[in-house]
Amino acid sequence: MCGIVGFTGRQSAAPVLLEGLKKLEYRGYDSAGIACEQKGTISVSKVSGRIANLCEKTENGRLVPGCSGIGHTRWATHGAPTDINAHPHVSNDGRFSVVHNGIIENYMELRKELTARGYQFQSETDTEVIVHLIEMYYKGNLKDAVMKATSRLEGSYALGIMCSDCPGTLFAVREASPLILGIGVGENFFASDVTALVAYTRNAIYLDDGEFAELTADDMTVFDCTGTPIHKPVSRITWSIEAAEKGGYEHFMLKEIMEQPRAVKSAIAPRIQDDRVHLDDFEFTADELRDIRKIVITACGSAYYAGCAGRYAIEKLCRIPVTVELASELRYNDPQIDEHTLLIVLSQSGETADTIAAMRECQARGAKSLAIVNVVGSTIAKLADHTMYTWAGPEIAVATTKGYTTQLTVLYLFALYAAEKLDLISSESYHKLIDALETLPKMMQQVLDMNPALPKMAKKYNSKGSVFYIGRNTDYAVALEGALKMKEISYIHAEAYAAGELKHGTIALIDEGQPVIALCCNEQIAEKTMNNIIEVKARGAKVLAVARKGNRAILSHADDVIYIPKVEPLFSAAVEIVPLQLLAYYVAKDNGCDIDKPKNLAKSVTVE
Ligand code: F6R
Repeated sequence: MCGIVGFTGRQSAAPVLLEGLKKLEYRGYDSAGIACEQKGTISVSKVSGRIANLCEKTENGRLVPGCSGIGHTRWATHGAPTDINAHPHVSNDGRFSVVHNGIIENYMELRKELTARGYQFQSETDTEVIVHLIEMYYKGNLKDAVMKATSRLEGSYALGIMCSDCPGTLFAVREASPLILGIGVGENFFASDVTALVAYTRNAIYLDDGEFAELTADDMTVFDCTGTPIHKPVSRITWSIEAAEKGGYEHFMLKEIMEQPRAVKSAIAPRIQDDRVHLDDFEFTADELRDIRKIVITACGSAYYAGCAGRYAIEKLCRIPVTVELASELRYNDPQIDEHTLLIVLSQSGETADTIAAMRECQARGAKSLAIVNVVGSTIAKLADHTMYTWAGPEIAVATTKGYTTQLTVLYLFALYAAEKLDLISSESYHKLIDALETLPKMMQQVLDMNPALPKMAKKYNSKGSVFYIGRNTDYAVALEGALKMKEISYIHAEAYAAGELKHGTIALIDEGQPVIALCCNEQIAEKTMNNIIEVKARGAKVLAVARKGNRAILSHADDVIYIPKVEPLFSAAVEIVPLQLLAYYVAKDNGCDIDKPKNLAKSVTVE
């Protein structure tokens, strides 16, 4: 997904911009560029491909002089990922330059209007209309021109703007796309997220929609949409630089898999005090909870699968009907949602466009909303009535791991909290489940420690065709996420099936040597899944089972078994996904895939 950075200070801007862009690489991109201003001249350099190409082309920034500038990583939406379509874009008179994250929905009509007025377009992008609008409205006052130009835009945008008439001055504008200001000493910054800022400053201002800022080396003013200066609180960034780096692992994904025991502990620890669940961030009275007739969980991708797995715990403990909806579907479904609905929104980034749109749709129908989000100050966190952070720390690998397990953990906490408030759980079960939750990090660590054979299994189950994942109930929910992990990082087709569905069609695909990953961790139903293992084995499948320690029967059915510790069945999903993450990781590694940045994918999907 596109990322933007801006810098104004007393040192050369280009190296700072290039460093910032490298930190945004994890968001996914296909081209990059920078523009800097020196002595009233704007120089631009842009390339398709990696930031490394841009560093080479600019001799690490030396060829783009100036102490203020803007930079961009682009993930193509309008027009191919070419040098010309890369940002920054420059006005016809060369005085203005713009970087943009988001989508301008009315760009076609603006493009027609500007073309009729004689402006010449170089690129196929929606963004280019912005720089021509600014040129058209500029009558010597950049702030006025920016306000007039942005008032013509429909859609989402975080913008970085510079003008050669205003040396050292940058404008940053936010509308429905993330944008953060960084405050330094004798220098100021903006960026799409904090990872690009932490090397330089820990003091940040989170802009809200409709706000914009004027930055110089020594000053920063934030304005509301009418152009009136406003006071914004300065937040302290607590994420360390090391936390955003690989910490000795070959890939961010492996580091993040290994961090899961700690991440899950961070999600749980502050919320269990004196042997009770305390949710300071979700204060609901018993009456308010009783007023909820149904819960709708919405999200995209892995976050959606976390909802599928977490749903079982909520329904079982709270006896409230729960549906889990893909955000991209829910938003167009005319959903049956009212003020008696609790909407739970799951998102690692807090910026996923489809999730935001679904959330707005449900809020408009009266639903109360609880966001379970990792990124502090993100759009979803701000939009929600209540926000519970997952406290997973920065997740850099495009494929989520600790984001997923911490979302699931927070759903478990919510389920226990609500069950107790609703008086639906005995004190004995409540305390037993609290103990089980508190031991989750230890259980995850055991999985990480007790499966040294996983790289070997990855070789055995690496497939040129496809891999099937089967399971029932919570095991099925885990199968969905396990299959997604395999698909997205190893590019191997993987399909998750509810094990009981096999005989209704899918079993026709089982042939000699077909790899099947069978999840048998849910004790109540593992025996049934073992019958399905027998069925696929009879048709030649090679089966790798995941089961609870102590399940010896499975050894006589499956070809290989990965054991997980004896975790509480209700919370098992958070533990049994771990070996599947590792399996996908080692298969992708063996296949030489770009694990942290899989092709065609972006970390934060801020377009529909
Ligand atoms: C898969 C993955 C994606 C995200 C999805 C939602 O590994 O990371 O499927 O889960 O794009 O993203 P967030 O959680 O940021 O809303």
